[in-house]
Amino acid sequence: MTKIISLEGFEYSGKSTQINLLKKYFIKNNIKSEFTREPGGIKDLEKIRKVIVNSNFTNKSLILFFFASRFELISKIEKIKQNKLYVFDRYFDSTYAYQGINQNDKKIIKSLISLIDKKSIPEVTFYLDIDQKSLMERKKSRVFQNKFDEIYLNQFKRIKKNYNELLKLKIGKRKYIKINANRSPDIIHQEIISHLTKCKLI
Ligand code: TYD
Repeated sequence: MTKIISLEGFEYSGKSTQINLLKKYFIKNNIKSEFTREPGGIKDLEKIRKVIVNSNFTNKSLILFFFASRFELISKIEKIKQNKLYVFDRYFDSTYAYQGINQNDKKIIKSLISLIDKKSIPEVTFYLDIDQKSLMERKKSRVFQNKFDEIYLNQFKRIKKNYNELLKLKIGKRKYIKINANRSPDIIHQEIISHLTKCKLI
């Protein structure tokens, strides 16, 4: 059976670094895995990704675009009956955190999440929680990758609040684990590996 884990967090939370460390660890330890990202992940959806993350779409349209892309990705993955661990760089929690602007948006997002088949719900989601001070320090040395990075940087508090709300939301049996991302990449990596071992995923 294909098992899914997902990584979440604000830009500059060190998510990409952790994804790369996981890739190396899985190769070194012969763990069969596959990595994908959202939005995108597969050829056709990568084209749509470029359009979405640079768009001026309304928030409601964005919710639907993200979920349309997501359902397509899930359907492709569900067809692959390999015994692999799938690592998602962002998943439905990102839509809740970023596009969950008001209660009505959140309601829509929750009902769309409920349409995801339970076999495509992650076993574990790691939320890399960064504070604003660390974010500003890291931001100095980087340029914006897309329009979204720039827009959402000003909404840090709201997005962080939404990521924290997800701690209380029950989505199937998945575990939502908040990780203090203000620490060194190696320590964070060790913590992620220890959770994955405890959950018998590796
Ligand atoms: P990306 O360059 O992948 O950012 P990061 O490296 O931080 O993952 O751009 C993805 C952008 O899309 C990012 O700003 C978050 C945003 N996003 C949403 O707003 N909602 C979503 O559901 C997803 C999956 C991403």
